[in-house]
Amino acid sequence: MYTMQRILILGATSRIARFVAYEFAKEGAKLYLAGRDTEELQRTAEDISIRFQTPVYTSFFEVLDFQNHGAFLCGVLDELGGLDGVVLVLGHLGDQDEAKHNPEVARYLIDTNFVGPTFILTLLADYLEQQGSGFIAGISSVAGDRGRQSNYVYGASKGALSLFLQGLRNRLQKTGVKVTTVKLGFVDTRMTFGKKKLFFLASPERIGTAIHGAIGKGYDVVYLPFIWFPIMLFIKAIPEKLFKKLKL
Ligand SMILES: NC(=O)c1ccc[n+]([C@@H]2O[C@H](COP(=O)([O-])OP(=O)(O)OC[C@H]3O[C@@H](n4cnc5c(N)ncnc54)[C@H](OP(=O)(O)O)[C@@H]3O)[C@@H](O)[C@H]2O)c1
Repeated sequence: MYTMQRILILGATSRIARFVAYEFAKEGAKLYLAGRDTEELQRTAEDISIRFQTPVYTSFFEVLDFQNHGAFLCGVLDELGGLDGVVLVLGHLGDQDEAKHNPEVARYLIDTNFVGPTFILTLLADYLEQQGSGFIAGISSVAGDRGRQSNYVYGASKGALSLFLQGLRNRLQKTGVKVTTVKLGFVDTRMTFGKKKLFFLASPERIGTAIHGAIGKGYDVVYLPFIWFPIMLFIKAIPEKLFKKLKL
């Protein structure tokens, strides 16, 4: 069990992130909420500090501004007085049909979901490694487990993130720093609003609580909701010769 006292959440305007934050705040953790919509972050921070009587800091964070990541991290460490864990929630789905034909749209997705997270997580991993304790949790997707015609650009970006987190876990396993990969199925958020055929759609509250639980238990990889674990086992087992003919 970790002492989760000073927690950074990246992409804190996500509804999933909000419920993760609630769970840490219930334990009396000091929170640092980072994202692009500073007004929304401020409202969330006030809500959490009133509900749970815990200090909550906020700051602007754009994952694509690589050159500012170092200064951003210094600010986090100053305000929190150190760091015990980070939850990287941020991500972008975008228009998958556009991403298939417009390389700039595809690059934006890869940069947001993989290149930017790689940049900030590399800085964070070095800090936590030197400290010899803490955790990194990254929110990935079941879409990253196998490339499908409907969303392979997003899937590739999330698959790359999953692979990065897997390697990081391997690198840090003897240092006292835990790395958790969270592979989400469909969750009822802004990202999925208005989309059809979302089976096993989960609420952000249920998922946020489960993410916090998985971090607390020190899981390496977790599928949420759990039903996606057997589903993806099955999907990954389909031979490529057959899989490429399926309309998925
Ligand atoms: N919903 C699902 O079904 C589902 C399924 C699998 C995985 N996921 C993953 O779950 C995570 C949370 O997503 P969500 O469903 O809660 O969607 P969401 O409400 O759209 O949240 C996405 C978050 O990422 C932030 N973000 C996007 N681009 C950014 C950038 N360039 N720099 C900094 N922050 C950026 C957004 O900030 P702004 O408020 O500034 O836009 C927002 O806080 C994402 O990683 C997503 O890929 C979701």
